[in-house]
Amino acid sequence: MPGYLFGFDHLWTLIEAYGAKESLECVHSWHTEFGNTFNLPFGVGRTVVQTCDPKNIQAVLALKFNDFDIAIRQKPFGPLLGNGIFVSDGKAWEHSRALLRPNFVRNQISDIAVYEKHVSQLIKHIPTIDSATEFLFGKSIDTLGSGESQNGNNSFAENFTVSQAGSLTRLLLGPLVVFHRDPAFVKASEESRNYVKRIVEETLEQRALQEEKSSSAGQSYVFLDELAKQTQDEKMLTDQLLNILLAGRDTTAALLSVTFFLLAKREDVWSKLRSEVLKLEGKRPGFEDLKSMTYLQWVMNETLRMYPIVPLNLRVANKNTVLPTGGGPSGNQPIFIRKGQEVQWSLYAAQRLPEVYGEDSNEFKPERWEKIRPGWAYVPFSGGPRVCIGKQFALTEAGYTIVRLLQEFTQIESRTSEPFKAHVGLALSSEYGAKVCLTPAQA
Ligand code: HEM
Repeated sequence: MPGYLFGFDHLWTLIEAYGAKESLECVHSWHTEFGNTFNLPFGVGRTVVQTCDPKNIQAVLALKFNDFDIAIRQKPFGPLLGNGIFVSDGKAWEHSRALLRPNFVRNQISDIAVYEKHVSQLIKHIPTIDSATEFLFGKSIDTLGSGESQNGNNSFAENFTVSQAGSLTRLLLGPLVVFHRDPAFVKASEESRNYVKRIVEETLEQRALQEEKSSSAGQSYVFLDELAKQTQDEKMLTDQLLNILLAGRDTTAALLSVTFFLLAKREDVWSKLRSEVLKLEGKRPGFEDLKSMTYLQWVMNETLRMYPIVPLNLRVANKNTVLPTGGGPSGNQPIFIRKGQEVQWSLYAAQRLPEVYGEDSNEFKPERWEKIRPGWAYVPFSGGPRVCIGKQFALTEAGYTIVRLLQEFTQIESRTSEPFKAHVGLALSSEYGAKVCLTPAQA
């Protein structure tokens, strides 16, 4: 890709597109013009290898996993996330992953009662941080309920949001992050950490008291209690809980709001989905019911295909290495990647490749999932050793919420005249939220 003024022209185009909420379309159009892999000059001395080629995505995430790092996240996110799974590489990451992964096994995820408690309140409002905090901490911050939020517990959600937004600004600053000064960010990060730290301390104290009492049978599953069986390191537990919350809070919420925005625009999809839901005859869906609801799975797949919640991602080569394709005169030879080189991929573009999805790849069509098997051209939860550990949790929670809402409401109408527009923060979400009108089943 040619660049002028050391590539500042591209940087400026992207900043303008970001302001117009069209950054994903901008990178997508570059791919259409310059191919699936190209060099993107990006300011003085900085060239990013930009790709949407499934083979290269597979190489970075899986086949050449050890050749790439995510270390550039550490400085921007450090004040909130410490040294948890989301910001670490190498041995530290391996340790985090080994600690956390076993807690996402199927029988914990399939504890549907946790979702129902909050989804029944969602019928009145809209959640997900409530069920996430109950699953993680053992008590919900209950933003939807009445009692606790009036006691000021909502401020955790607010602080976490402020700190997350500050972390994104710091990420975008790149090497200039050392000059970042924002007292509101520092305060919100400290208060978020203190809130979680207090829960960790209480849990560890209770654990010490109950050490001798053998059984916790009958009690529901609490993520923190399980972690505390493996380590009593207070900082480690605080870091990991905040990391999981960052990775799991807005992502699932965004999937739900994007889905409902799209459903409200597509009466045909809503009706088909509702026919499938009505087969449950009003019964609350169990884990197995959700898995066997084909059209529900297609709708979630298609939403995550067109609007991947992590639409752009980046790694840095930690040694000289090679990516399988994108080089040479034909553009399909391997390319050399020098140590320190940034490789960025657009999942937004990869998941719309016409050669994989056909000429209608920009259309929302759940039915396409009957035939396609897109492999590495569809990785909304990433892939390889760092694949999302919350994938099943998220799909179960989102699927359950969708089904319960379709059981409660017969019709949906959009209250936004605009077509869908993506807001790109740490996670992709709907620029216009999900303003819809729902008709109750028993009015
Ligand atoms: C629709 C919902 C979700 C989507 C689309 C999603 C997507 C992703 C993606 C793309 C990554 C890879 C990020 C990277 O390597 O740069 C990731 C990592 C991760 N996700 Fe999710 N996620 C979702 C929900 C959740 C939930 C609910 C949790 C936990 C409760 C969670 C926990 C994690 C963790 C801990 C990682 C880091 C794994 C590692 O680095 O080893 N995610 N997720």
